[in-house]
Amino acid sequence: MIDYTKNLDEACAKFRKILEGQLKRVEDMKAQGDFTDYAALETIKIGVCGGDGIGPIITKEAARVLKFMLSDLVDSGKVTFIDIDGLTIENRIACGKAIPDDVMAELKSCDVILKGPTTTPQKGDGMPNIESANVAMRKALDLFANIRPVKVPEEGINWCIFRENTEGGYAVGSSGFNVTEDLAVDFTVTTKQGSDRIARIAYDYARKNGRTRVSLVTKANIIKTTDGNFLEDCHKVAALYPEITTDEWYADIMTAKLVDPKRRKDFQVLLLPNLYGDIISDEAAEFQGGVGTAGCANIGKKYAMFEAIHGSAPRMVREGRAIYADPCSMLRASVMLLSHIGYQDRADKLERALDICTFEEKKLAITGRDTGATCEEFGNYVMETLRSLI
Ligand code: IPM
Ligand code: MG
Repeated sequence: MIDYTKNLDEACAKFRKILEGQLKRVEDMKAQGDFTDYAALETIKIGVCGGDGIGPIITKEAARVLKFMLSDLVDSGKVTFIDIDGLTIENRIACGKAIPDDVMAELKSCDVILKGPTTTPQKGDGMPNIESANVAMRKALDLFANIRPVKVPEEGINWCIFRENTEGGYAVGSSGFNVTEDLAVDFTVTTKQGSDRIARIAYDYARKNGRTRVSLVTKANIIKTTDGNFLEDCHKVAALYPEITTDEWYADIMTAKLVDPKRRKDFQVLLLPNLYGDIISDEAAEFQGGVGTAGCANIGKKYAMFEAIHGSAPRMVREGRAIYADPCSMLRASVMLLSHIGYQDRADKLERALDICTFEEKKLAITGRDTGATCEEFGNYVMETLRSLI
């Protein structure tokens, strides 16, 4: 038998460090204040961060539309916009950081952020193994709720996915290690505070929006402790919302049921740990027209960030198709931004314009290539539609 003492000691030391970090996070969560009251702020500062790949192109269109929707408030000084550069993969590699310090300081100076996709290095792709900028930002700003709406009006689908955003497989996703050359481990994390806060935001949304059903999605039959605790904590919150029906699904059967046209329209709110939320939200968005059409809100107590649900599409850039990227993901994210900072009427108007452009009138189609409209042409179409509504 090989003597593994040294490997085991090293692994235990690393594991201890991970646990210390997570315990510190629990203490931070316990000490956290309430959600920002945007109405009480003298100015709401919106940071526009283009990211890389197709990010800057689609973010530009969304920022243009947002500035138009908020122009009177920009004039009165209630809303300000700043551009935040430097979240490109080149700059992140040069700084050796998921988010360079100066970019982080700028992000933290904002109240809300509109963020384009960013390229995520992956083991074996030749790039340094820096953490995903998305994940780093969600953690650094403690954006614990990732809210991803999907609708397909002609099928009666209207889902809102609440993905826990700071825990699960993502909490220490880049801190796994090789114990020996044969044995590798990664970790998944659940905390009482983390599950409670995502469940509250999901049930609150359901109550305020007349939704009658919340479906909890885990693999608690296999991942018994962390997913089991997640379920237990969600049920505790569910008990505070007796008018809402709660049901449980395993992630595998949920992915199957979402392709069942007879069953899928019955789902309303899905509440899931991070990794299942990541996977199922891409599947869900596909029914709406693809990930390019879906945006999301990343909500924390102090900060909020709005982005596409997809990545930076480096292949589109390599193939010279970036100008044909679909801005709808970022435009849908902008709807959520407007609603979050307290301008629900404007959010409704933008959502209406997007519904007209993408589900009803459909004067322009985005195909991701020269067979369809460019990102800018589509942005113009949305602007024209908005003007006709105002
Ligand atoms: C998402 C994306 C990210 C994630 C990637 C780009 C890190 O897939 O927002 O769903 O895995 O969360
Ligand atoms: Mg994803």
